[in-house]
Amino acid sequence: MNDQRPRVRREVVSFVRRSTRMNESQRKAWDAHRDAWVIDDLPMVEMHTSLAPEATIDPAAIFGRAAPLAVEIGSGAGENAVALALARPEVNIIAFEVFLPAVASTLSRIARAGVTNVRIIPRDGAQGLATLFGTGELAELWTFFPDPWHKGRHHKRRLVNPGFADLVADRLAPGGLWYLATDWADYAEHVHEVLDEHPGFAAEHRRMPHRPETKYERRGIEAGRRIHDLAYRRRA
Ligand SMILES: C[S@@+](CC[C@H](N)C(=O)[O-])C[C@H]1O[C@@H](n2cnc3c(N)ncnc32)[C@H](O)[C@@H]1O
Repeated sequence: MNDQRPRVRREVVSFVRRSTRMNESQRKAWDAHRDAWVIDDLPMVEMHTSLAPEATIDPAAIFGRAAPLAVEIGSGAGENAVALALARPEVNIIAFEVFLPAVASTLSRIARAGVTNVRIIPRDGAQGLATLFGTGELAELWTFFPDPWHKGRHHKRRLVNPGFADLVADRLAPGGLWYLATDWADYAEHVHEVLDEHPGFAAEHRRMPHRPETKYERRGIEAGRRIHDLAYRRRA
C-alpha cells in the first residue's frame, strides 16, 4: 500500500492496560460474534502489542462492498458506532477499542441492532490508523470522549497530539471530517491548540449528526460539565 505513510511510534499509549476479564454475557457475545465482526487475525510484532508494519486490511472485502469509510478510535462499548451504523447504513465503520470486555459489549449491541456495517479491531487505533490505511482513504474519523489524561506529566498520553493530527490529516480524504467530543474543558482547549492552526484542517464546530448521548456524555453532564463538540474538515 502506501510506503510514504508516516510511522507513529507509540511506546506511550493513550489507554490504560486493564484486566480483560469479561462477565458472562460479554463472554457469550464474544464467543458468538467474534468471528463475524472482530478483526483480530492481523500480524503482530512478536512479544509486543503492536501491529506488524506489514499488517493490512481490505475494507471492501471485509464489508463485501466499497463504501465511504469512517474510523472510530476508542469506541468503548460501541454506543456511538452502533447508533451511527443504524443511522447511516451507507457508511462502512471500523472501530478500534483495546478493552476487550467493551468490545464484547459492542458485539451484543451490533447483534441487537442488526447492523452489518461495523467491524472492530481490538488494537491501538493510533497505530492502526498509521499501519492499516493509506493516504486519503478515510471519509471520517471519530474520537469521542477520549481519556482525558489531566495531569501535566500525562499529557503526552493524550490521543490528540501534533503527530496524531498530522497522521489524521494524511489519512482523511480532502473534505473529510474529524469529529471529536469531550466533557473536559482542558481537553477541548488542548484540541484547539493542536488543531486550530494546523494547515490541514478548517474548524467547523458542531455536534455530529446522529451522535447519541453515551454513558460518558451523561456522566459529564451529571457532574456539571459542558460538552464540547468539535469538528475539523480536511482542507482540499
Ligand atoms: C472514556 S472511553 C469513551 C468511549 C466511547 N468513545 C464513548 O464515547 O462512549 C475511552 C475509550 O478509549 C479506549 N482507547 C483509548 N485509547 C485508545 C487507542 N489508542 N486505541 C483504541 N482504544 C483506545 C479506552 O480503552 C476506552 O475504552
